[in-house]
Amino acid sequence: LRGSTGGVITIDPGYKNTGSCQSGITFLDGEKGVLRYRGYAIEDLAEKADFLEVAYLLIFGELPTKEQLEKFHKDIKKESVVDDDVKKILDAFPKSAHPMGVLASLTNALTAFNPSSVNVDSEEDMYKAIVKILGKFPVLVAWTMRKKQGLPLDYGDSSLGYVENVLKMMFKQPNEAYTLNPIVVNALDKLLILHADHEQNCSTSTVRIVGSSHAGLFASLAAGISALWGPLHGGANQAVLEMLEGIRQDGGDTKKYMAKAKDKSDPFRLMGFGHRVYKNFDPRATIIKKAADEVLGDLGVEDPILDIAKGLESEALEDKYFVDRKLYPNVDFYSGIIYRAMGIPTEMFTVMFALGRLPGWIAQWREMRLRKEPIGRPRQVYIGENHREFKNISNR
Ligand code: ACO
Repeated sequence: LRGSTGGVITIDPGYKNTGSCQSGITFLDGEKGVLRYRGYAIEDLAEKADFLEVAYLLIFGELPTKEQLEKFHKDIKKESVVDDDVKKILDAFPKSAHPMGVLASLTNALTAFNPSSVNVDSEEDMYKAIVKILGKFPVLVAWTMRKKQGLPLDYGDSSLGYVENVLKMMFKQPNEAYTLNPIVVNALDKLLILHADHEQNCSTSTVRIVGSSHAGLFASLAAGISALWGPLHGGANQAVLEMLEGIRQDGGDTKKYMAKAKDKSDPFRLMGFGHRVYKNFDPRATIIKKAADEVLGDLGVEDPILDIAKGLESEALEDKYFVDRKLYPNVDFYSGIIYRAMGIPTEMFTVMFALGRLPGWIAQWREMRLRKEPIGRPRQVYIGENHREFKNISNR
């Protein structure tokens, strides 16, 4: 198609076949179900690495040495204090506010409290902004949940690991000791690793495009959080749980919902099924499905929702509609079940996704800035009215 300046413009709604950048961070092959961060298989990382190691790998390109990891963690811990005035902003939200909206607003607000994080032209400045947000973000995540539950806000415990600290900040009850459960720590570590990056998805592309205007890192991340919120993206994990719960309350008839999902006159979709890129299986879903079984078994949780999930999955695998369209469970089909077993409220699921995705967004933003990419500015093909004569309001 011809654009207004005469050049040829490609129209590719949803950018299904349009690359926006060159990237050396995450490789995925949707046909074969392969996902690698910086060349390392997701299966190996989920089993052998911890979340902070993976964050370092994604952001800086190499697995850290013990010393590098210790320094990274120390620098993050030093930045884990959030200005007290941010609590006032949090207090101003109604209790009913969705945690993703709150998180996006607070992340953006951090820019005002940390203006030096905006003009980051050197790698050193970038590093400072990166450890700042890695330190403060888990605090915001925990505060967002505690505010909803009416619990006092607190900082974590710097003697703990990154993921352990997140759990303690979220779950510690006033006047009670908090004991970490290694099964829960391990499961959350795995979930965060699996969500840590996924190349040019909707939220990551948002972070890159906002960052390409040289808006600050925190503002770019806030935009990414808003993009992640939608039910066709990260919001799917909440939507899956709500769907499964709805099916359970409606008598557990999975066949009825399979039929609804296939009925084109019905807007209902089977949440947690289908993926823009994975057309055979989502390797993250394979790992999570196993983890869900283990965690529920280890914690002794019997959740009827897991049976409904398994029922839907096995029916979809046999169903021509789903098979023809290559619709398989994605990462979020099972993640919500694990979050629920951990005691995380449904509305917080997408926030947990954001916590996991944070290093990926940072890595992609850093890569974009280091490569000195130009401002993102897609073109369009105009299909509106031609020139029209203006009519005064009395003549319309
Ligand atoms: N249930 C029923 N039908 C579906 C589903 C579904 N979950 N997903 C896709 N389809 C159908 C579409 O109706 C369409 O059918 P048609 O060819 O007869 O018109 C066909 O499959 C292709 O679907 P598109 O929407 O064109 O595929 P696209 O790549 O644009 O969308 C998406 C991918 C958004 C993930 C989609 O599959 C979906 O909405 N899934 C449910 C939401 C979800 O789980 N999102 C999480 C994605 S993973 C993540 O963000 C971590």
